[in-house]
Amino acid sequence: MRNRENLGDTSPEEFRRELHELADWIADFRQSLGSLPVAPNDKAGAILAALPAEPPEESEPFEKILGDVDQVIVPGMVHWSHPMFLGYFGWTTTAPAILGEIITAPLNVNAMTWRTCPAATELETLVVDWIRQWMDLPQEFGGVVYDTASVGVMHALAVAREEAAPSTRKRGLVGAGAPVFRIYASEQAHSSAEKAAIALGLGEENVQRVPADAHFCMDLSALREMIARDIRNNFKPLAVIATVGTTSTASVDPVPEIARICRENKMWLHIDGAYGAGFVILPENKSLTDGWSEADSIVVNPHKSLFVPLDFSVLYVRDLERLRRVFTLVPEYLRGDTVEAQKNYMDYGIQLGRRFRALKAWVIFRSFGREGMAARLREYVRLANLFADWVKGDNRFELAAPVSLGVVCFRFVGRDGSPSRPSNAARPAVAPYLADPPNESKIDQLNSEIVEKINASGRAYLTQTKLRDRTVMRIGLGNVLTTEKHLREAWEMIRKAASDIGT
Ligand SMILES: Cc1ncc(COP(=O)(O)O)c(C=O)c1O
Repeated sequence: MRNRENLGDTSPEEFRRELHELADWIADFRQSLGSLPVAPNDKAGAILAALPAEPPEESEPFEKILGDVDQVIVPGMVHWSHPMFLGYFGWTTTAPAILGEIITAPLNVNAMTWRTCPAATELETLVVDWIRQWMDLPQEFGGVVYDTASVGVMHALAVAREEAAPSTRKRGLVGAGAPVFRIYASEQAHSSAEKAAIALGLGEENVQRVPADAHFCMDLSALREMIARDIRNNFKPLAVIATVGTTSTASVDPVPEIARICRENKMWLHIDGAYGAGFVILPENKSLTDGWSEADSIVVNPHKSLFVPLDFSVLYVRDLERLRRVFTLVPEYLRGDTVEAQKNYMDYGIQLGRRFRALKAWVIFRSFGREGMAARLREYVRLANLFADWVKGDNRFELAAPVSLGVVCFRFVGRDGSPSRPSNAARPAVAPYLADPPNESKIDQLNSEIVEKINASGRAYLTQTKLRDRTVMRIGLGNVLTTEKHLREAWEMIRKAASDIGT
């Protein structure tokens, strides 16, 4: 750059023009999203190959950069907002969410202390309390926003550990007498439990996976036996992670009974409601909150089920001061910034610099209202059950798990009229799921192939998972743009792929 006049930012006139161009681009993108391929079909490395490897030396115009977004980035994406995206929990963004993200960008906040941005700190406190009210959590629960549930569970277990071994923060877990802690989570629980144990030095193997029952929920007698066995063997049971909405089937662990076991054994109860907790804004789902008031911590991911785009996860701790005690540490250069504050969010975790995540959530929650979000979630539940009815109506398929919230796990089981299988009408409507003998590796492979074929087509996207050692297909309803018509189209594609592959 030769001219000092070119320093500083883009000129206001040019910036205004670019913003208008971008506004049109965003509106066009949203409007035409449904006609794009849901997923690319390129080999790994295709995006890198299409972009210059050398860093830019000179300035390039915004139009050219946006052109590359159109040419290379957009076609290289799995479009999670696409109406035919039925993978994972189908999580979504929405028009209000996009507006919220856009407002956030120019504000350039660092919400590490109250004083570095009072509005961000206080809005986070407000929004977190709105969610607490929606979840019927007692007022003694306070929350903090992190990026993800994985980070939330790690912080929760750090508090559990500190309370069970009070000098850990200061000295670490050292010495011959240091307890070997055990954490229990169902075999269906998310792997973030192990990640937390790795990060906290508790040891991956000390996360004990508790068998699940016929409906993929934690087996309570197995939990009791495992705790008793560990106590006999001089381990120290530390915490149970109960899941409300497991990753594969969205099953819900029996929280009130698990709470009782935790109480009897003086253990920390963490509820992983990353997916399921958002659904309690539906009055008909209030029973999901049974036992929550007895928890020590609970995580909810509004980025999974409350319409806030990634990332936005809230960890609630009964008496948030317990979390602060473990993580507060004020370096000298920040001391002046921490005075007069009710709350400095840097005290509630390992992160110092913090984004203004609360703003996008605030925009979305106000735009939809609880009622609007509940109506949309209710529609996902309706669509999930409708899809399950279609599965039950075709005897080449079976449900692989009970339908829960917006998730359906199902399986292609063989050719139409196969003499080896009873018709769906003759099979029990509920459990046992996947009761047939395993060792159907051919069927596993066919289920995988159906998913691969559909995803490769770019017309729809679903996922596969393993349940009781069988490969099953899985859809997650969670996308605001998905309608019954889209779902019907996806089901017809699955049936056709099954006919093409399975005959
Ligand atoms: C039940 C459950 N818990 C935790 C997580 C981890 O979520 P995050 O990506 O926010 O760390 C997931 C991810 O899908 C999940 O399904």
